[in-house]
Amino acid sequence: MKHEIIITAQGHKGTLERLQNEFSAVKLWEAPDRDAALKAAAHIRGVAHFGHSRVDGKLMDALPKLEIVSNFGVGVDQIDLEAAKKRKVIVTNTPDVLNDCVADCAMSLVLNTLRRLPQSESHLRAGAWPTKGPFPLTTSLGGKVMGVLGLGRIGEAIARRAQAFGMKIRYHNRNRKDVPYDYDPDLVTLAKNSDVLMIVTPGGADTAKLVGAKVLDALGPTGYVVNVARGSVVDEMVLLRYLQEKKIAGAGLDVFEHEPNVPAEFYTLQNAVLYPHVASATVETRKAMGDLQVENLLLHFAGKPVKTRVV
Ligand code: NAP
Ligand code: 8YV
Repeated sequence: MKHEIIITAQGHKGTLERLQNEFSAVKLWEAPDRDAALKAAAHIRGVAHFGHSRVDGKLMDALPKLEIVSNFGVGVDQIDLEAAKKRKVIVTNTPDVLNDCVADCAMSLVLNTLRRLPQSESHLRAGAWPTKGPFPLTTSLGGKVMGVLGLGRIGEAIARRAQAFGMKIRYHNRNRKDVPYDYDPDLVTLAKNSDVLMIVTPGGADTAKLVGAKVLDALGPTGYVVNVARGSVVDEMVLLRYLQEKKIAGAGLDVFEHEPNVPAEFYTLQNAVLYPHVASATVETRKAMGDLQVENLLLHFAGKPVKTRVV
């Protein structure tokens, strides 16, 4: 007999198929009456979670037999970890398998933001090359300092790539690490010492709006922000104003505060490069993330320790 699980939301197609093959699955997002569906599923022990909707104490209380929430994604800021701990619910995520893709994408944001490659392509496509002449000169990566805010699994993968581009690396975490990079004990100092501030911390309450006016002032008018972490880590409205007023040189953003909605004022900025949260979005990486999500559920139901436990 297959174990029963709840799938919270529409997600990666291949993983949804696997989940439905391996388990007997309730598709919560398809239920015409969510509360009634949860009531009927009150005996279920496992949840497979996709996306950025909240998994909170209320949902856990609606599922009194819940033992495990297996998340598709490394970031678990949308899951109430304290509520899970209190109820002895295991939470798993999908670390490491996405490091390379997210780091590749982060470097593409650095390249695109400093070299303004999307804007130069638009110049060509608009027919402006023969009429207005060559695209204006841009900024080199070589010799510039990348300050990594959040030198963890992904941050280290980004740092290695940035070094190959001739950049120097500094970082700020709450805890100093045994790495060959200079450490700044606070974020304002990191920003002051950096040309590119690379944000790759977790989201959630601990990092909310860490990057605001003080940090952007320290980065200054020649500095760039790149964010592949969560929109919540940056004060989005302050960042928008600093870009509009050219108080910083530019920004490369893969994440936003209220995805998929992005404040329309960002669309017209000439000093920003914007991606719709695609850093891990390759066929290979999404499959690896899904396999890990499924594996954690299978291990748990087989009475074995899960592979990538958060709490
Ligand atoms: P990780 O290995 O846990 O690294 C996170 C780093 O952030 C750690 O070095 C941690 O060091 C530091 N940090 C945490 N809180 C901090 C704070 N308040 N101030 C300064 N540093 C802090 O996580 P990861 O696997 O690299 O993933 C990082 C995040 O990237 C995820 O949580 C997710 O939000 C985001 N992400 C985004 C995408 C995307 O598609 N754009 C894809 C994957 C991941 P200390 O504990 O010492 O402070
Ligand atoms: C995914 C991510 O886009 O892993 C994460 O934390 O942000 C991304 O890999 C996201 O989790 C899919 O919903």
